[in-house]
This record gives sequence, structure tokens and C-alpha cells, in this order.
Amino acid sequence: MIEKGLKGIVAAETLISHIDGEKGKLYYRGYEIRDITKRYSFEEAAYLVWFGHVPDVTQLNTLKKQLKDNRDLQENLRVILDQLPPSMDLMSVIRTVISAEAGNLDYGWKPTTSQAIRLTALVPTIIAYRKRQLEGKEFVSHRSDLDFVANYLYMMNGKVPIKAHIEALETYMILTLEHGMNASTFSARVTASTESDLVSAVTAAIGTMKGPLHGGAPSGVIELLNEIALIGDAEKVIRERLAKGEKLMGFGHRVYKTRDPRAISLKAKLLEMAGEDQWLDLAMEVEDTAINLLAELKPGRSLYTNVEFYAAAIMKAINMDAELFTPTFTASRMVGWTAHVLEQAENNTIFRPQSRYVGTFR
Ligand code: ACO
Repeated sequence: MIEKGLKGIVAAETLISHIDGEKGKLYYRGYEIRDITKRYSFEEAAYLVWFGHVPDVTQLNTLKKQLKDNRDLQENLRVILDQLPPSMDLMSVIRTVISAEAGNLDYGWKPTTSQAIRLTALVPTIIAYRKRQLEGKEFVSHRSDLDFVANYLYMMNGKVPIKAHIEALETYMILTLEHGMNASTFSARVTASTESDLVSAVTAAIGTMKGPLHGGAPSGVIELLNEIALIGDAEKVIRERLAKGEKLMGFGHRVYKTRDPRAISLKAKLLEMAGEDQWLDLAMEVEDTAINLLAELKPGRSLYTNVEFYAAAIMKAINMDAELFTPTFTASRMVGWTAHVLEQAENNTIFRPQSRYVGTFR
């Protein structure tokens, strides 16, 4: 017997996070995420995930300073960014530039938290640089008076964001910064388990994140919602898609057998923000219709909305273009990937499962 896709297999013990898939709960270092989003900033949540406890004021200020000090792209990374073809997708751009960062520091074994902080600080700048480059606009340098999330929006748009947009994106980025042994984190840990360096581990993770079954799902959600908005009949569109054997993007999860708590928190944030938001109304209608149809057509599979469904809605609410969704997820998940690599390095055994030969012997 093999478990396809390693379903149900525990691949590592971790102190970083816990997912209760039956109850629909997610904890970072023992704290439930809905409490974290209410009480802490992105930097505090990142500190908690990296260091295992909530920072005091001095520790928080030190982390904020380290993140700010590492935001700038070194000249060699800018040169690479300037040379990449405009047709190259943003996830491939991030993967390439982060990979080239290996030349800028000594990233040798073992990985360190300083390296983790540096890589996390770089991603928003890479995204903003590329976005503005493609729009034919001047690069906007970071503002040291702005924290991680506000500065990310500032560098992309060239203006200080409104509070509601910062709060919405910060909620999203906290909810997505860590999630146990998901496919991209597993990639990072497998790479690190060979005693390869942190840059290689997160480069592997970025490549894994890109796929539509993982971090690439929000674009599929937008496509679904746009089609339904055009045709005006959610049930018809969803039935047709399911009849063709398509998977609905933003629904289903390997671990959650009930609603994804991150989707619940994002929806609550959207409801808090929204006045009259037609997009949110549409998203909620599609969620209800899809869950009912999935229960009817796929009985017993427990299919509900996952984080990607309301991620698409929250990004839309803050006017972020669809091609920035997965890169933004990457910017937050860099915290989780690096935390897992640091944990892997502390008690390392190389990942080396086996395969079963099912061919003939000649
Ligand atoms: N739409 C329709 N049917 C679905 C969906 C879906 N979104 N998800 C699962 N199913 C069905 C499958 O067709 C399968 O049915 P079957 O028993 O008749 O074959 C059953 O439910 C079990 O699904 P699996 O694909 O075996 O579940 P698995 O755990 O392997 O996959 C996954 C989980 C990849 C998330 C899947 O639900 C999916 O593809 N969802 C759509 C993509 C998506 O939203 N990805 C983002 C996930 S969250 C994240 O990565 C951050």
C-alpha cells in the first residue's frame, strides 16, 4: 500500500504550528490564528513563528530594524531584474532573483535567522520593483517609517496606503505566513535536509508554491467569479464545471475537513471593511452555491472554501491585480518556509523515501 501524495503521512515533528483539520483550527506556536490577527502585527507574528514567543518591545524593534535594513536590492539583483523578459511571470522572477541572492551573503550550512530575515525583507521589494518596471514607472524606494505591510503597498503604488488597506493585507499576510507541512514547505525541508543552503531551500519552495493546486489558486477563483458575474447564474456555471470534472479553485483542502479558519477570518475582515461591495456579495453567493453543489455531487468529501477563495476577494478589495496574488502569498510564506528550514537544520535527517518498482524485470 502506498499513500498517493503522502496523504495522512506525518513527515516531521514541529514546534512551529498545528492544524486541527477536523475542528478547523490553526495555531502558530500554540496561539490560535484568529487571536494573532486581532492582537499582533505582521512583524510580531513573524517573530513568534521564528523565535517561538511573542516579542517584547526591544525584540520587536530589533526585528523591525533588521527587516528595514535588508529591504534594498543590491545592484546585481537590480541588473538581473532589468534583464528578465517582460513575458516572464512574477513567480519565476522572484525565484530567479532570490536564487541570485546566494551570491550576496555567505549562505552556507547552517541556516541562520538573520538569513531568514534578509530573504523575507527582499521579496516585497522584488515584487514592487518588477510591478513598476512592467508599468513603465520609476522604482519607489522603501520608506523607513513604514512597517512591512504598509511599505510593501507603498513601494508598489508609490503612495502611502489607507489604513483599511493596510489592515486587510496585514490580516491576509499573517494568516498565510505559516501552514505546517504544505507542499512548498515540504519542498523547502527536503532541500534543507541535504544540508543545502537556505536560498536553495526557499527557491525550491517558490517553485512549488507557483502551481495552481497550491499558491496559484486565487487567479482561478477570480476567473470563476468573473465568469459567474458575466453569466449571472452561479449554479449553472458551477454545475457545468463540475460536470466536466474540473476542480473549483478555492475549494477543498488536504487537511481541513471543515471550513478553513483562514477563510473565515478573511471573510470577517472583508465584512468589517465593506460598505456596499458587490464583489464580496458575489463571493458569498458563490461560496454558498458551490458548497451545496459539492455536497450534492461529491457526497462525503467535505469540500469547503479554503484560504485562496477569500484571498482573491481581499486582494480585489484593496485593488491588487490578480498577478500579484501568489507573489504576495510568497512574501508572507517566506516566514514559514525559513522557520521550517531552521527547525530542520536543528535536528536533521535527510528525506529519502522509497519508490516501488511496478515494471517488469528483463
Ligand atoms: N472542486 C471539485 N472537487 C474537488 C475539489 C474542488 N476544489 N477538491 C477536491 N475535490 C474532490 C476530488 O475530485 C475528489 O473527488 P473523487 O473522490 O470523486 O475523486 C475528492 O474531492 C478528494 O479530492 P483530492 O483532490 O483527492 O484531495 P486532495 O487532498 O488530494 O487535494 C486540493 C486537495 C489539492 C487542495 C484539492 O482540494 C484541490 O485541487 N482544490 C482546488 C485548488 C485549490 O483551491 N488549491 C488551494 C489549496 S489551499 C493552499 O494550498 C494554500
